[in-house]
Amino acid sequence: MKVIVKENYDLMSKAVADNIINYVNNKPKSLLCLAGGDTPLKTFEYLVKAAENKEINLTEVKFVSLDEWVGLGPATKGSCVETLYTHLYNKLPINVEEQVCFFDGLSNDLENECRRVDSFIESCGGIDISLLGIGMNGHLGFNEPGVNPELKCAVIPLDPVTKTVGAKYFDEEVDVQAGITVGLKHLLDAKEVILIANGEKKAEIVKKTIEGEITTEVPSSLARNSIDSSIYIDTEAGNKLSK
Ligand code: F6R
Repeated sequence: MKVIVKENYDLMSKAVADNIINYVNNKPKSLLCLAGGDTPLKTFEYLVKAAENKEINLTEVKFVSLDEWVGLGPATKGSCVETLYTHLYNKLPINVEEQVCFFDGLSNDLENECRRVDSFIESCGGIDISLLGIGMNGHLGFNEPGVNPELKCAVIPLDPVTKTVGAKYFDEEVDVQAGITVGLKHLLDAKEVILIANGEKKAEIVKKTIEGEITTEVPSSLARNSIDSSIYIDTEAGNKLSK
């Protein structure tokens, strides 16, 4: 796994966006799987700017949602779908109906939702880029510690850490017990796996991801087994690394 350390969050985000822009311009028919959460927001800003400046060709790109909180949908500010549409999809020159596939966290047939998204990913020939924020417990999407790495799309009970940390996204208290997520099998088989983390609060989990044991207890560490993986961090997130 390549480790790319940038001086600050802004430079880190710019480097991640540049990587995605280069990839897509070389392979216009790409499938991107993009995380919600806070970490990718600045990368999204750079992607929107690149689209405005016609520096990225998005006409044939497809997007798949990484995950959603079960029971939440677009009406809840802070849901994954609301975050991605507000900060990215609605600002890009794309046809969202045709180019974006998103989990419906409100569906009463979540098993079917999983198979629907599996089929979408498979019909695109797999994921090109998985852009993944690292959770405080090392989760990727809602692939929580102890997850089966062979899972494709799945519904997974939330780890207590995820429930506690997740409160930061919502204006009101929400009762969420599970997540629907693209599984590690799809994510880590991507042509490029990009992990991102910034800030002092992520320093411990970044150290475990890069220097700790490769274990399902720290899902982010499993990215080290992927054929092409990189982790972009800022200096604060890297300050517990031994080298
Ligand atoms: C969000 C998601 C989560 C976050 C992770 C990091 O769609 O899948 O796995 O990427 O919890 O969250 P932030 O970026 O808010 O620190």
